[in-house]
Amino acid sequence: MLLNHFDTMSANRVCHFKLVLLGDSAVGKSCLVVRFVRDEFFEFQEPTIGAAFLTQTVQLDDATVKYEIWDTAGQERYRSLAPMYYRGAAAAVIVFDITKKDTFNGAKSWVKELQRRGDSNVVIALAGNKADMEAKRKVQTEEAQQYAKDNDIIYLETSAKTSLNVKKLFMEVAKKLPKNPVAETRDSVPIGPPSKKSSSGGGCC
Ligand code: GTP
Ligand code: MG
Repeated sequence: MLLNHFDTMSANRVCHFKLVLLGDSAVGKSCLVVRFVRDEFFEFQEPTIGAAFLTQTVQLDDATVKYEIWDTAGQERYRSLAPMYYRGAAAAVIVFDITKKDTFNGAKSWVKELQRRGDSNVVIALAGNKADMEAKRKVQTEEAQQYAKDNDIIYLETSAKTSLNVKKLFMEVAKKLPKNPVAETRDSVPIGPPSKKSSSGGGCC
């Protein structure tokens, strides 16, 4: 089969994207990232201080997506730092704990804040984590699904403990990210303290 010009250009494209994890403390943000990046799980994961930076790559049919991930701290005392991390992010994974209703409300306010103050094209995914704890469920799947549909965001129920949907979550986000030549003109994301620029979510380079 003949490839057209765009197919040829995008075939082995490596695209860098800044992704931020947001959500209340102890919902499992760090556990999800550690599962995604290192395929490990710790029952006693320490609360994050400030933020942690990790990278991981996802292979799509037409491109390689390299995530530059900021895992933020959910504790209230770090709340004011969050804009530094979501500013310029191409994608955000907002996490709540399906066994704690108030964390779903927390996630909703993160969605609202990102829609108002994040990058205009930010791809948002909502993760209902700890799906392995079905017996203690307080947030119904249908309610979260409907909320995600109304807000045009991805919704998946995940478990960092069992690995359920963890890779899929990052794959679904990757599929929605822009991998076109226009993105080449956007800045790549520096490794180091988060930038104050508002439109450097990443792109192909
Ligand atoms: P902060 O860093 O304070 O914002 O918290 P966090 O959202 O990063 O939570 P963390 O990843 O540290 O997880 C808190 C605890 O929840 C962990 O020590 C795990 O015991 C537990 N946990 C995380 N994910 C899961 C999961 O999918 N299932 C179960 N059963 N427990 C989980
Ligand atoms: Mg953490």
